[in-house]
Amino acid sequence: MHLINDKNILITGGTGSFGKKFVSTILEKYNPKKIVIYSRDELKQYEMAQAFSDKCMRFFIGDVRDSKRLEIALNGIDICIHAAALKHVPLAEYNPMECIKTNIDGASNVINAALKNNVRHIIALSTDKAANPINLYGATKLCSDKQFIAANNMKGSRDCRFSVVRYGNVVGSRGSVIPFFKKLIESGAKELPITDFAMSRFFITLESGVEFVLKSIERMHGGEIFIPKIPSVYIKDLAHTLAPDIPLRAIGIRAGEKLHEVMIPRDDSRLCIEFEDFYTLMPTISFQTPIDYTHTQDGLVGNPINSEFEYASNTNTQWLDSKAISALLQSCDF
Ligand SMILES: NC(=O)c1ccc[n+]([C@@H]2O[C@H](COP(=O)([O-])OP(=O)(O)OC[C@H]3O[C@@H](n4cnc5c(N)ncnc54)[C@H](OP(=O)(O)O)[C@@H]3O)[C@@H](O)[C@H]2O)c1
Repeated sequence: MHLINDKNILITGGTGSFGKKFVSTILEKYNPKKIVIYSRDELKQYEMAQAFSDKCMRFFIGDVRDSKRLEIALNGIDICIHAAALKHVPLAEYNPMECIKTNIDGASNVINAALKNNVRHIIALSTDKAANPINLYGATKLCSDKQFIAANNMKGSRDCRFSVVRYGNVVGSRGSVIPFFKKLIESGAKELPITDFAMSRFFITLESGVEFVLKSIERMHGGEIFIPKIPSVYIKDLAHTLAPDIPLRAIGIRAGEKLHEVMIPRDDSRLCIEFEDFYTLMPTISFQTPIDYTHTQDGLVGNPINSEFEYASNTNTQWLDSKAISALLQSCDF
């Protein structure tokens, strides 16, 4: 029986791409007692409430910057998924303080409110951009990750566990490259802009991201960063698959962008445990009660990895070719 059953769950940023898929999945597969959506925009909440009318749904208008509101919202909650974030790289470069307030201060507010309310499982969503960050968005997510991991040392006698799930680009999520290309194609573009023909990215479907978070809830001791093994794509292959007849034009890499993403930097490999279809990174700090991270809470066994290991989108062993990209695009409901 999954931990979600009969539990009160809160999702910060629950009206976003991840939140909606997470909610539809748990309503379909499990039997949650209550699901609280916590976010700011009333229109998104109103529209979500129309689509998700199950009697266990609750909609809380609130900002993760508002610690008092979070404390009220997390009262009686068993599982919290922290998905709220500002995640647009160029906008974060231009408005750094706004990104810092939401992604860093917001994380700290979620942690404090979860501790005050004895929330048992807390998972924060992170991104490959937090590994060796070169842009402000990635740097704020790294600060958020560090706070969630260190929170395990603030819990005292409470049974609260804080972990992080880190993954790469989500196929078709709001503001991402596929909807961008699709819009250009639909408006009759004569060419598609590609930042660099060599650019590669990790790709994961929303469905797989949600499944991975659900599994991580059952696997977590607290203190781990969970990283799924997922394929890479060349952005040029993606554009070509979407529109084989439209020529591509290289426009140069944008401020704050990497040519390739890294999910596990080489310097972190000594903290890495490999399992069959995912990795975990152990905390850089030690906790009062030592934890054996080679065994997950649900009984999987992993092995430490060699110190030269790096998990990067360009050296990945799993790739999607045009055929696999087509199948992936067809399986997604954009
Ligand atoms: N999409 C990806 O490719 C990707 C990849 C790796 C990791 N992630 C991570 O996954 C998480 C979810 O991403 P997503 O794609 O679902 O994002 P999204 O679609 O942009 O949704 C973001 C959600 O956060 C809410 N939000 C933003 N600022 C807030 C604030 N100050 N207080 C409360 N809620 C706030 C938004 O609603 P309001 O604006 O109404 O508040 C929205 O519900 C993020 O943490 C992101 O970093 C995403």
